[in-house]
Formats: sequence, structure tokens, C-alpha cells
Amino acid sequence: MRTSAPTARLTTLDLFAGCGGLTRGFLDEGSFSTVGAVEVDTAAAATFAANFDPRGEHTFAGDIADFRSVPDVDVVIGGPPCQGFSALGKRDPADARNQLWRHFVRVVRESDAAMFVFENVDRFAKTPEFELLRRAASEDGELADFRTQVFRLNAADFGVPQKRVRTIIVGSRIGPVAQPAPTHGKAPADGRGTWTSLRQAFMQGPVVLEPDVREEWLPESSIVFGGQEVPGAFKLRDLHITRHYDLTSQIRYAHIAPGQGRFNLPEELQYPCWRRHTKGAGDVLGRLRWDEPAVTIRTEFFRPEKGRFLHPQWQNGGVQVNRALTHAEAAVVQGFDERHVWCGSKAEIARQIGNAVPPSLARAVAQVVAQRLLVV
Ligand SMILES: C[S@@+](CC[C@H](N)C(=O)[O-])C[C@H]1O[C@@H](n2cnc3c(N)ncnc32)[C@H](O)[C@@H]1O
Repeated sequence: MRTSAPTARLTTLDLFAGCGGLTRGFLDEGSFSTVGAVEVDTAAAATFAANFDPRGEHTFAGDIADFRSVPDVDVVIGGPPCQGFSALGKRDPADARNQLWRHFVRVVRESDAAMFVFENVDRFAKTPEFELLRRAASEDGELADFRTQVFRLNAADFGVPQKRVRTIIVGSRIGPVAQPAPTHGKAPADGRGTWTSLRQAFMQGPVVLEPDVREEWLPESSIVFGGQEVPGAFKLRDLHITRHYDLTSQIRYAHIAPGQGRFNLPEELQYPCWRRHTKGAGDVLGRLRWDEPAVTIRTEFFRPEKGRFLHPQWQNGGVQVNRALTHAEAAVVQGFDERHVWCGSKAEIARQIGNAVPPSLARAVAQVVAQRLLVV
């Protein structure tokens, strides 16, 4: 399989691949091609294949525990779900929660990779699982010839219109990599531009997404992947549709200005259960701001009650937009463009979008990894 720039000389294998945000960034860097992916969720695996593996022959759509034909690669990349790890000290190999951990390490070893890139949530660096990974890549661990470096990176610093802080662990048995260098900052400095705002992303970027959208279903179309029919493959613009909101919800959203949330609702519009809870997540029913990057996009961005996901346009020239981000807007906030296509139901695609590594962030990591691999 060759899905890559013509200059690509290095290979990646993507574990827990989701829709392939990490792979997209590595391919965009230009030095890499992908030899495949492992992903248990059929819709996500179909999305990966539709983008990077058109015949679907190198996308293993199953549990990593069953992935046996491990190819040789230069770099294993992957972002396992954090809740899949075991508690520190529990070394019981029969504990199901140990499986993801053990298999990531196993595949790195069996692939003969020179390096690995492991992505996870910000707080991962404070978990027992992080210690387990470090222990594996230490003198008496299973990856004894690897050494690890830990980077805490904010996607906004790499041009993504979103504040999303992630822990990136680079494991290497050929020497350290440089710290990925931010291209953007909160304020301009040292040749860096300022963070990309939502206005720039939606209205001035390569994909202009007008706020005025239709209430609609996804188009009727499906592909066959792994012998199963999966909805898709949808273009980014197919995903720029909204769901139905009842009138009361719309009235609630109309009261919330950019930067505000549920605490700004008048008493009579509070949900009864909220009246008793005057503290807690201020982001609930939050409205985004046009001139800032978005907050971290999660898998339920299409539900305003799940976070700060209301569209930023509010009372501009009398026009209000009283809905959550569309799937297309959320994908753009994650840094995807029109090259990427999507498979699955709306909920499945939302999960893929919310779980993804923004490609520009992945690309910055790919750059330092390629620099190390290409000098050896
Ligand atoms: C955080 S997401 C990965 C996102 C991906 N790195 C990207 O950039 O798009 C984690 C993925 O691991 C998958 N997963 C969970 N358990 C798995 C298992 N046992 N084997 C293979 N994939 C698994 C989930 O379905 C999910 O898509």
C-alpha cells in the first residue's frame, strides 16, 4: 500500500487509529507512507480505509489483541483510549484492562520499529499507566533499548483553531528528537503567528462554512468495508447539516452570549435539575467566541448541554445561530479539510472527530521524528 507523498521514505503503522488524524498528519509531513492501521470500531476503520487504504486490505478492523501479522515499520503511532489501561501495580495479565497496554508494547516490539509515538489526553502524564509505559521503555522493560521523551503540546500552538492540550510520548532507540516548535502563539512572537480563531477557520479558511444550515439527514449512501455495509463515504460538506432543536431549547440558546453558559439563563429557563446545582461545569450550554480558538472538541460536541459547543454567531446584524457546531464545523475545528472523507452514522462520525489528533499537531511531531530517522 502506498498512500503518501512521492518523497515518502519512512513508514508508519497506526494503532487505535480512529479516523486517522495521526496518520493524516504524518502523511502531510511528506516523509511517511502508511502500511496500515488497527481499529476495533468498524465505522472508524472504514473511515481510515476510505482515506488511506482504498482496497481496505491493510486496515485491521478488530481488537488489537487479535492483530497478529505485524508488518515491519519505522514508526508505530497510536492513541489508545486512556480508560483501557490497568491500575499501577496490577500485573495480572488476565485483567482485561491490561490488554491494550500489553498489545501496544507487543506491536512496537514485533514491528521492529525504531520509534513510537503515543498520544493521549493531557492528564495521562499523571496516571499510573504513564509510569507503566515509561517502565517498559527502561533498562529492564520489554522495550529496553527505547528511551522516551514527553511533550505537552497544545494544538492551538500549531495553527489548529482549538485549545487542545495533549501528552505526546516519543519512544526511540536511535536517539532523542527535538521539541516540536510551535508555529503559533496566544500573542505573535519570534516569527510565530497568533492562534487561529474560529472566524478565520470558518469564514476565511480553505473551507468556508456559512452559519446558515439546513435541518437534514446524511445523504443515502454506503460503502462495503470488510464485508459490511457502512454509511458513507461522506464529504466534509455533507456533514454541514444540523439536527432538530425544539423551540424551548432554541429560546435557551438565544439567551447565551459568546463566552457565557447555563449560569446566564434566567431562572425560568433553567432546567429544574440545574436549579439545585449552582456550581459545576460552567461550560455547559456554553457559546463559543468568534475571535478565539474553540475549547477542546469532544465526542458529543453536537449536544449543547455537553459543553461549550454553541455556534459563536450571536445577534450579529440581528442573526442568531442557536445550535451546536455541525459535524463539518467540528471537523474543521479539529483541523481536517476537504480531503478527508467520513464513514458511519452521525454519532459514529462525531466520535471519530472528537477522538482525533488534529493533523497539524501530528504533522509537527512527524517533523521531529523524520529529522531523527533521516539522519541515522
Ligand atoms: C482516541 S481514539 C484514536 C484517535 C486517532 N489516533 C486519530 O488521530 O484519529 C482511540 C481509538 O481506539 C479504538 N480502540 C479501542 N479499543 C480498541 C482495541 N481493543 N483494539 C483496537 N482499537 C481499539 C477506539 O475505537 C478509538 O477509535
